[in-house]
Amino acid sequence: MTNEGHLRPELHFSPHRGWLNDPNGLIFHNGTWHLYFQHYPFDTVWGPMHWGHAVSRDLVHWEELSIALYPEGKLYRFSGSMVYDRDNTSGMGRTAPDGSMIPPFAAFYTRHIETGHLESQGVAFSYDGGVTFEDYPGNPVIVTPPAEGGPLSDFRDPKVFKNPDTGLWNMTVAAKYRSNFYESRDLLHWTLTGSFAHGFREITNVWACTDLIPFETEEGCKWVLFASMENKEGQPEPRTMYFVGRFEGGTFTAEEKTEEPLWIDFGWDNYAGVTFNDCPFPDPVMISWAVNPRYANQVPTGREGFRGHMTSARRLRLVKTTEGRRLSFRPVGFDAEQADLSDASNASISSPCLLHIRGTAGTLSLANEQGEHFDVVFTKDEITIDRRFAGEQDFQADFGTEEYSRRSVRRLLPEGASADRDVDTTLILDGCMIEVYADAGLETATVNTFPKIPYDLAKTDGDLRFSLYRLTK
Ligand code: FRU
Repeated sequence: MTNEGHLRPELHFSPHRGWLNDPNGLIFHNGTWHLYFQHYPFDTVWGPMHWGHAVSRDLVHWEELSIALYPEGKLYRFSGSMVYDRDNTSGMGRTAPDGSMIPPFAAFYTRHIETGHLESQGVAFSYDGGVTFEDYPGNPVIVTPPAEGGPLSDFRDPKVFKNPDTGLWNMTVAAKYRSNFYESRDLLHWTLTGSFAHGFREITNVWACTDLIPFETEEGCKWVLFASMENKEGQPEPRTMYFVGRFEGGTFTAEEKTEEPLWIDFGWDNYAGVTFNDCPFPDPVMISWAVNPRYANQVPTGREGFRGHMTSARRLRLVKTTEGRRLSFRPVGFDAEQADLSDASNASISSPCLLHIRGTAGTLSLANEQGEHFDVVFTKDEITIDRRFAGEQDFQADFGTEEYSRRSVRRLLPEGASADRDVDTTLILDGCMIEVYADAGLETATVNTFPKIPYDLAKTDGDLRFSLYRLTK
């Protein structure tokens, strides 16, 4: 095993060693972005869950810090979120030597008992800015709800946030096939206020990693609920869905009626996405685990000493399209000023780099001398991503199938836009990961490819042209 190799992303977070899955505890505080993550440092496959910790000033360059939460025997620290209890609503703040109050950081996580698969919600407090944590002695703060035949077996991933309408704390938790909502004044005592389930019969997966965030619109506040679908053999592909609606009286109601769920991404590698608390920007910012759980334990990055990396941080907007309100995503922190090359249809590239593609129709390919290539095909109505010939495939049974290697999405039309619009697409290549933000981010795809040697050529046909920005670490 080696830590050198061309698959490891340089400008997207991956752990120095071992395994990573969901982002946890995303919070901005005093100029620093904190990214905690599901982590097993001792192997490159999933194992007893820790919370790893990384920090960044710009959301692009990350520094890994010491582990924040450790498992205790069969008690694993599953996914969750972080709040800064500025006003000491919990009463858990401490007095500093000078008499001032140290407000705590509160990490909410799922207490997963591996034997028997029992799950409840707990909290741990930090008094040193989120580096070390002490478990709250009164845990769990939410016990496992009852279900038919015993306690509910899947009850996890608390996302806690301050509700701007009520000033109270709210929590959303995945509870088997739904999301439960809770309310609290002090972060320690929680009351169930409502729950939401979708009506899509074919989506039989257990829910995970829910999040709930408000957007200001000209028609007042709209809320978006996110939920990831757990991986299970024989069930639909694990993906992240979202619902647009209202959050009133402690419960969520969807307002957009669609034939299938709305997806945050049309690629295969965007899962468990959640947003930052205390985000200083006007738009919310999300980070996701950039590997599909279906094959995450087998991806070839294992030979470079790690498995699991994150998407770019993305800012979210709710855009009015001819089909209703839809999310758009843009990467944060990659705003290069000067292109290294513009109006190109053929150029040498190296990872990491960013391409901005313009035109109306054609194919963009990233390729190498071994004949491997990853393609994005743009037509007036559709965008197709194709990784059938992009690199290694046989490390896992699903990866090379048609379902997991080629996918098309209908292009959305913002209200008032013309149907022959420019593709206005940003593509970021960084090691094994490619991010495609098409139509200014209305259709976003996150895709892992595992070429034998790096892609060193970008080319377009049709009327597509691109600008190239070389990104430096
Ligand atoms: C989603 C998930 C969560 C859980 C965590 C365990 O990927 O299964 O529901 O908290 O991963 O690592």
